[in-house]
Amino acid sequence: MCGIAGYYGSGNTCEVLLNSLKRLEYRGYDSAGIAVSSDFEIHIKKAVGELDDIKSDLDLKDKKSKAGIGHTRWATHGEVSEENAHPHVSCCGRFALVHNGILENWEEMKRELGEHRFTSETDSEVVVHFIEQRSQDGCVETAIREFMKEAKGSYSIAVLDSKREEVFVMKNGSPMAIGIGSDGLFFASDIHAFSEHTENVVFLDDNEYATVRGSELVVKNHKGKIVDKQPKTIKWSKKSPNKKNFEHYMYKEINEIPSVLRKLEKTLDRSQKNDLNKFRDMLKEHEKIIFTASGTSYHASLLGVYFLQKAGIEAQALIASEFKNYERADDKTLLVPVSQSGETKDVIEAVNHSRKKGADIASITNVPHSTIERMSDVNLRINAGQEICVAATKTFINQLYTIMRLSSSIDGANYNADLANALKNTIQKNEDKIKELAEELSDEEDLYIIGKGEAYPIAREIALKLKEIAYIHAEGMMAGELKHGTLALIEDNTPVVSLIPDGNSSIASNVKEVESRGANTIKLSPHNKDFWFPERNESFVFASTILGFLLTYWIAKRNGLPIDKPRNLAKSVTVQ
Ligand code: G6P
Repeated sequence: MCGIAGYYGSGNTCEVLLNSLKRLEYRGYDSAGIAVSSDFEIHIKKAVGELDDIKSDLDLKDKKSKAGIGHTRWATHGEVSEENAHPHVSCCGRFALVHNGILENWEEMKRELGEHRFTSETDSEVVVHFIEQRSQDGCVETAIREFMKEAKGSYSIAVLDSKREEVFVMKNGSPMAIGIGSDGLFFASDIHAFSEHTENVVFLDDNEYATVRGSELVVKNHKGKIVDKQPKTIKWSKKSPNKKNFEHYMYKEINEIPSVLRKLEKTLDRSQKNDLNKFRDMLKEHEKIIFTASGTSYHASLLGVYFLQKAGIEAQALIASEFKNYERADDKTLLVPVSQSGETKDVIEAVNHSRKKGADIASITNVPHSTIERMSDVNLRINAGQEICVAATKTFINQLYTIMRLSSSIDGANYNADLANALKNTIQKNEDKIKELAEELSDEEDLYIIGKGEAYPIAREIALKLKEIAYIHAEGMMAGELKHGTLALIEDNTPVVSLIPDGNSSIASNVKEVESRGANTIKLSPHNKDFWFPERNESFVFASTILGFLLTYWIAKRNGLPIDKPRNLAKSVTVQ
């Protein structure tokens, strides 16, 4: 994970970097650091904690500098500490470096480097010493090419050279976008990091590196051959995301659901119509449909399988981190990666792997121009806007909607054309009851969510939210499976939330099974007058998900938890 940023230009380097890091914080918030080069020396500051708390410790605004790099960390190698925070500096102090990814052969490289002063436990520090050692004939690019040849693993790296006051970046496996602005060049893990400065972007591909000549960007491949990269113009909102009057992004983003859904509906009917049709045709034409995704997006994929099977299309969903162990992709396969960020490493690996075996790729993503979007034959954007809270909420709803529209374009199944309004009412009309329920459940340590059919993936999604945001051990399961083991855990007052759409009477006996063992059952159902549900049953998956999100939010708020940045997690997981 981790977010990296770099800048070369006439603006205030420290300020540009701090703004970029703020926008990259969703990639990790264990520690942060920046380095600028001024008077041919590296000036560096780093600290442990979230950016808002440590911003003043990273202040290098008084240094006159045209080049700098920054990093926000999600720890992989080495504990969370100032020593392990990036940037890392080479022994002679000429270079500083930030890294996103995992270097697999770092121990071997470290051994081969011999005498260097290592001050951290990270794999990344090895790279800065390597660059120093191999640049001894004065040529940094030679060192970079040698590193790219010898390194195993994934990286996107920015190197600051204080001698030449330059920034170099290189990429293999982790993202690197470069913004070309009137006041300089901006390097970052994603385009949002510099969206206030420019709309012109170059994306590095694997095994490429870039440097600045004069003020021009030069991109080369790992053999040193210049690659002609035409910048893409990207239309985006320049505004920095903010919470407006909401205390937390999670709550704001849940409340944005009706409006982002409306936007998505429009684009699927207009600007994305051709892609929707192409996607539909590909689903029909391929023998094998394999969804792949991680976390919340995997739950959306499970629902995709459910809908497609109903529509007469054979489909399966594989968790991306286990993809290689279970897949049988071939040239008759359509791989459907579902990913909010479009950058999740395990999903990218699954795409690469399937592509090599001849599969076609039709993806569903949110962040525009992401790696997965760029790797796909066709892509549908869920258009939910930037999501800041680590937990995916509005993007999950838009993933579900996109998947539902795809399947209904195949079998003509009904979908609620007024869904956005129905969900607005779901949020507003249930808020008080959900707060009451949150109060009742806030001290629970274990919770079970049960569902059948289309409600099963939702049960898993609500359980995931309760774990990651409310820190409650929750299990989302198929209601029919209770009697095969989990029932042994049900005691007096064990909370069991059951998801019961209209017409799904078969779950009733499972609810009875837990009730007769003393469980405290909470029925999320249109038949339970405690809750308001939209009339149309196709809305059930959306409405019950929202109730689960709100319940999680209010429990976490009641318990004073760090809702938007839960411990140990990051929004975009760019390591395997
Ligand atoms: C992380 C996030 C989850 C997300 C998952 C997959 O674990 O914390 O919220 O669902 O990654 O991310 P993606 O961007 O591929 O949907």
